[in-house]
Amino acid sequence: MNFLITAGPTREAIDPVRYLTNKSSGKMGYAIAQAAIEAGHSVTLISGPTNLDIPEGLDFLPVETAQEMYEAVERWIGKADIAIFAAAVADYRPVDIAEQKLKKHGDTMTLELTKTRDILASCRPEFGFKGTLIGFAAETQKVIEHARIKLEKKQCDLIVANDVSRPDIGFDSNENEIFFVEAESQEAIAKADKQHLAHLIIEKSLSLRA
Ligand code: CTP
Repeated sequence: MNFLITAGPTREAIDPVRYLTNKSSGKMGYAIAQAAIEAGHSVTLISGPTNLDIPEGLDFLPVETAQEMYEAVERWIGKADIAIFAAAVADYRPVDIAEQKLKKHGDTMTLELTKTRDILASCRPEFGFKGTLIGFAAETQKVIEHARIKLEKKQCDLIVANDVSRPDIGFDSNENEIFFVEAESQEAIAKADKQHLAHLIIEKSLSLRA
């Protein structure tokens, strides 16, 4: 099976030395890529900047911005059977990137942001992707309900949802507690390390595919 996986944060420049980003470590996406390789599959990993070692035996495409990630997915998703979107993509980026380092003026400053393109939501309508499509949802309340709205809006087969209001799991943590949310059902997966969850996500994706 050919897997395409996105991972990590994106980085949106403000000026030559500053950027907007988020707390994603990339651990979940890299663990999923590793689990797919261990199960004997081919993997393309499209990753924003992380401090992680690149797993061996996969095609690695490093990107920085949401736009670069969009273009990489657009280019490579055609050869995927299963696509898993674990990246924490910036929803907004600065309208202008200053060519020179911004100097401080006054006591407040306003940064104008514009929406980035939603890569996951583009898979069906823009890229014509017909394979198995899996997204992630980071929620702080009504986890299942909000995840199911994303499932429908982005035309996914599965949303892997987690509660990011909990300090013991998610983002930079080695552990996570997730829910598999489908159109008609949901399943709570007990708290476990990201390696174990990654294997479950690969197995789940293969059963959806079948
Ligand atoms: N995603 C994407 N491109 C974006 C934004 C998100 O591909 N520009 C993907 C993520 O990789 C993830 C899912 O969409 O699989 C998350 O959706 P999103 O709507 O951004 O969820 P949240 O981050 O939970 O944000 P919000 O609830 O504020 O909409």
